[in-house]
Amino acid sequence: MGLLNSLHFALAVLVTTTAAALAATEAQTKRGCNDTCGNVIIPYPFGTSKNCYYRDELLDFFLNCTTTTSPSSSGEATTTQLIWGENVEVVSISLDPPELTVSGDVTKQCNYSSDILFWNSMTFGEFSISSTKNRFTVVGCDTYAYFSDLNSTFRTGCSLSCSNETRFEEAGACSGVGCCQTSFPQAIRNYNITLYSFDNYTDVLDFNPCGYAFVAKEGSFNFSKRELRGLSNRTQFPVVVDWAVSNQTCREAKKDAKSYACKQNSRCKESVSGIGYYCVCEDGFRGNPYLDTGCKDINECDGDNHCNKKCHNIDGNYTCLCPWGFKGNGYKNGSGCKFPFTEISLGLLVIFTLVSILCWANKQRALKQLRRQYFEQNGGNYMLQQLHQQQGYTNRTKIFTEDELKIATNNFDESRILGHGGQGIVYKGILPDNSLVAIKKSRVGGDSRQVKDFINEVTVLSQINHRNVVKLFGCCLETEVPLLVYEFVDNGTLLDHIDPLKNEHSLSWETRLRIAAETAGAISYLHSSASIPIIHRDIKSTNILLDHNHIAKVSDFGASRLVPLNETQVSTVVQGTLGYLDPEYLLTGQLNEKSDVYSFGVVLLELITAKKPYEFLGLEQKNLATYFASSMEEGSLLEVIDKRVLNQKNAELLNEVAFLARRCIRVHGEERPTMKEVATELEGVIAMKKHPWVKGEDMMSKECECLLGHAAANTSVGYDGAYGNISANTFAAYESIQKQMAFEIVDGR
Ligand SMILES: *[C@@H]1O[C@H](CO)[C@@H](O)[C@H](O)[C@H]1NC(C)=O
Ligand SMILES: *[C@@H]1O[C@H](CO)[C@@H](O)[C@H](O)[C@H]1NC(C)=O
Ligand SMILES: *[C@@H]1O[C@H](CO)[C@@H](O)[C@H](O)[C@H]1NC(C)=O
Ligand SMILES: *[C@@H]1O[C@H](CO)[C@@H](O)[C@H](O)[C@H]1NC(C)=O
Ligand SMILES: *[C@@H]1O[C@H](CO)[C@@H](O)[C@H](O)[C@H]1NC(C)=O
Ligand SMILES: *[C@@H]1O[C@H](CO)[C@@H](O)[C@H](O)[C@H]1NC(C)=O
Ligand SMILES: *[C@@H]1O[C@H](CO)[C@@H](O)[C@H](O)[C@H]1NC(C)=O
Ligand SMILES: *[C@@H]1O[C@H](CO)[C@@H](O)[C@H](O)[C@H]1NC(C)=O
Ligand SMILES: *[C@@H]1O[C@H](CO)[C@@H](O)[C@H](O)[C@H]1NC(C)=O
Ligand SMILES: *[C@@H]1O[C@H](CO)[C@@H](O)[C@H](O)[C@H]1NC(C)=O
Ligand SMILES: *[C@@H]1O[C@H](CO)[C@@H](O)[C@H](O)[C@H]1NC(C)=O
Ligand SMILES: *[C@@H]1O[C@H](CO)[C@@H](O)[C@H](O)[C@H]1NC(C)=O
Repeated sequence: MGLLNSLHFALAVLVTTTAAALAATEAQTKRGCNDTCGNVIIPYPFGTSKNCYYRDELLDFFLNCTTTTSPSSSGEATTTQLIWGENVEVVSISLDPPELTVSGDVTKQCNYSSDILFWNSMTFGEFSISSTKNRFTVVGCDTYAYFSDLNSTFRTGCSLSCSNETRFEEAGACSGVGCCQTSFPQAIRNYNITLYSFDNYTDVLDFNPCGYAFVAKEGSFNFSKRELRGLSNRTQFPVVVDWAVSNQTCREAKKDAKSYACKQNSRCKESVSGIGYYCVCEDGFRGNPYLDTGCKDINECDGDNHCNKKCHNIDGNYTCLCPWGFKGNGYKNGSGCKFPFTEISLGLLVIFTLVSILCWANKQRALKQLRRQYFEQNGGNYMLQQLHQQQGYTNRTKIFTEDELKIATNNFDESRILGHGGQGIVYKGILPDNSLVAIKKSRVGGDSRQVKDFINEVTVLSQINHRNVVKLFGCCLETEVPLLVYEFVDNGTLLDHIDPLKNEHSLSWETRLRIAAETAGAISYLHSSASIPIIHRDIKSTNILLDHNHIAKVSDFGASRLVPLNETQVSTVVQGTLGYLDPEYLLTGQLNEKSDVYSFGVVLLELITAKKPYEFLGLEQKNLATYFASSMEEGSLLEVIDKRVLNQKNAELLNEVAFLARRCIRVHGEERPTMKEVATELEGVIAMKKHPWVKGEDMMSKECECLLGHAAANTSVGYDGAYGNISANTFAAYESIQKQMAFEIVDGR
């Protein structure tokens, strides 16, 4: 009992699984209908029993599945046939294209004596024989045959006549020798084949006693000479019949929704024969479009995938997705999913650029602010005020920007450094108009009092237009350390030209004299002629520049002080260069114009002696001023004079200048001449040199005589001896004479 139950169960399981498997392969027939007959699969709308085929009332789609049993050599043989209409045997059925393959009979005639005229006809009801897939073929050598439409007058055919000698092609194309083929038009539903003979097959009886005519599916018959005989064994050929639903067009059929054959997810197509329509599933769907259930979506994502990564099935189609963050074509033959590097890198680039721009802008703003801060710190606003007041002047101080000067000095390149002055570093600069300038980095900054002074100097100096004062073009206050822009003087400092170590061919005495006079004139101008007196404070041979014509230019006003008009002297921190420093100023700290006179005196000494103003000689310190004074007092002046300029003609003038210098370096400032006096005297000396006869020739010669002692007339003795004779007593006397003479000269001009 238990065994039987489990057997039942097993059977039940088997049945359900088979049913499920069948359901999975899309049923092609109505539920409960036979889907095969013998080997032939019968899809709906065809059917073999009632309610199993389309349009029951017309029998167009009814197929009669018959099984006949007949006796044969091995007992009983059953043949299953599928019959359409009265006698058309169906071999296979196709839905798309809508075709029935049926068996067509061969019309054959062999026996001329009985049936000379032989015929065969077929009818397909609403269906028609395919004109594209079938051929009407005639085989024989004494034959002609017709293919005629039973419902019209259309008739076609071909005739064949050949003998034993006729050359047959072995690889049998049906080419007109023993075999001919012809086409026929569409929409022929019923045809009649008739076959005739010319000579009752008498001539060709030996090798081909018969004639054949038939309609056959193209390719199902390959002619060869052998077929002339062998064809007698073949009685049927496949014939393709186009079937269609009704005799309406798609448009007409769709109007009548009830009889419209194409169901869900299918569409209507016009029949190739021109009559009726048929149905096909939409792309992406499969199934039987005539069944009520319609066509079903194909799940493309099932099994064999069309996608590289992620498949997404949709109704009638599918999409291939890329994983999150990826972009591109996920289809198998597509370009593939790619990480969007270009987009991301582009994004990053944009962000980077933005950040850079922001940073840059911020930096620029900070820089601008810093410049502004420096500008204010360096007294820029005060400077602007000052400039405003000088609006009348044509050559005003220019305020340069930092960028302008950076360009001019190639970003303060080391190769552009002209020298390290006491007041800062000097660069050579080239302005956009190709003019040369000297740019000095000052050492002022911070202290507001100093700033004010600095600005004062800058504004005042910029107004000075003296040929022997280095012209100040402008300044730049945007930097931490203010920058000054000067006229470029190209031939170095005075020291460069008189230093015996640096320059073999030193300046001539005449030039030295002229330079001294020019310098004196310039300082005198600063002291008196400028709108506010200026004390240079740092007159020395390195601050006197020479241009290519050896014209002197007083420079470096970094230490200079302005002296308010109502004051004759100001107290300052002692500042200057050792050797040039006024001893009185050094002691008291009281600065006045006479300090410059002292310094100039030392420069004069340098011009005369070409010696350093201050030297450390081991433990001993050598101050040129003291040394010179003592030399003069000892009468050994000749020893200190620069041999390069000493000659007989110069002696007097040298002597005179020596006396002038001696006066300039007096310890007490009051005893020194003013700069104006010095300048005037020097000019006098030059004039005397040019025109020794002009004035005081007697005095000069007398003076010379005195100075040079007895040797003056007797030049052969030589200067060494002569100078050696100068005594301390005569010195004082000559000094007074000199003074007188100087005043006379001053009065005279
Ligand atoms: C199906 O065909 C078989 C024979 O081939 C027949 O016995 C059976 O009755 C048919 N069933 C239907 C539903 O037509
Ligand atoms: C099918 O054919 C058989 C014999 O060929 C015939 O007896 C039967 O009536 C036919 N059935 C229909 C429905 O035509
Ligand atoms: C076509 O010819 C056949 C046979 O002669 C006949 O039965 C049928 O009714 C005809 N049909 C039409 C539409 O003429
Ligand atoms: C036809 O040709 C074959 C061989 O080529 C020959 O045997 C036969 O006798 C010929 N028949 C006629 C009627 O000429
Ligand atoms: C076919 O043609 C022949 C000869 O013309 C004729 O005798 C026969 O009746 C025709 N058959 C049909 C079905 O019309
Ligand atoms: C063919 O045979 C028929 C009848 O047998 C006869 O009437 C006819 O004349 C013959 N034709 C030829 C060409 O022999
Ligand atoms: C045709 O059939 C006959 C007997 O029915 C046979 O002798 C002959 O060889 C067959 N011919 C071919 C080509 O099969
Ligand atoms: C189409 O078929 C119907 C019957 O099914 C018939 O009444 C109608 O005349 C036919 N129309 C054409 C154009 O053949
Ligand atoms: C599916 O969709 C793609 C575009 O999205 C289209 O190119 C393709 O033809 C469609 N395939 C089907 C079967 O509809
Ligand atoms: C202005 O400067 C130019 C060249 O630097 C000079 O020739 C001119 O004399 C100056 N004018 C004044 C008023 O300083
Ligand atoms: C100064 O100028 C002269 C010619 O004017 C020139 O020969 C000499 O080399 C220059 N010296 C310097 C140091 O530039
Ligand atoms: C100089 O004049 C200014 C104002 O013009 C004044 O402040 C200052 O005290 C005066 N100095 C002397 C020493 O008179």
